[in-house]
Amino acid sequence: MAVPERQILVCQSFRAGGDPKGICHKQTDGFLQYIEEEILDRGLDMQVVATGCLKQCEAGPIMVIQPDNLWFKGIDSEEAIDAVLDGLEDGEPAAEYLIS
Ligand code: FES
Repeated sequence: MAVPERQILVCQSFRAGGDPKGICHKQTDGFLQYIEEEILDRGLDMQVVATGCLKQCEAGPIMVIQPDNLWFKGIDSEEAIDAVLDGLEDGEPAAEYLIS
């Protein structure tokens, strides 16, 4: 079975036991499902991965594209996801959401 070309890491705020969650899990309901659907609709060779806290909470919600190592901030809407995926397809990362 082929491995995906890219992974899209979506912070879900998990932290070590006892520590309060960060802010990234406060995304809208259906957020991960929307990303999955967009990947399929666009024919992108990507896999969605839910992660623990990515230690960038002040800029959250955080999403990361690997192996490109592109870190995006403020991904809290379908419009933001669309902008990031549009940028990947165009070969120009969505600058307004990039963590530089
Ligand atoms: S909770 Fe997402 S970066 Fe910390």
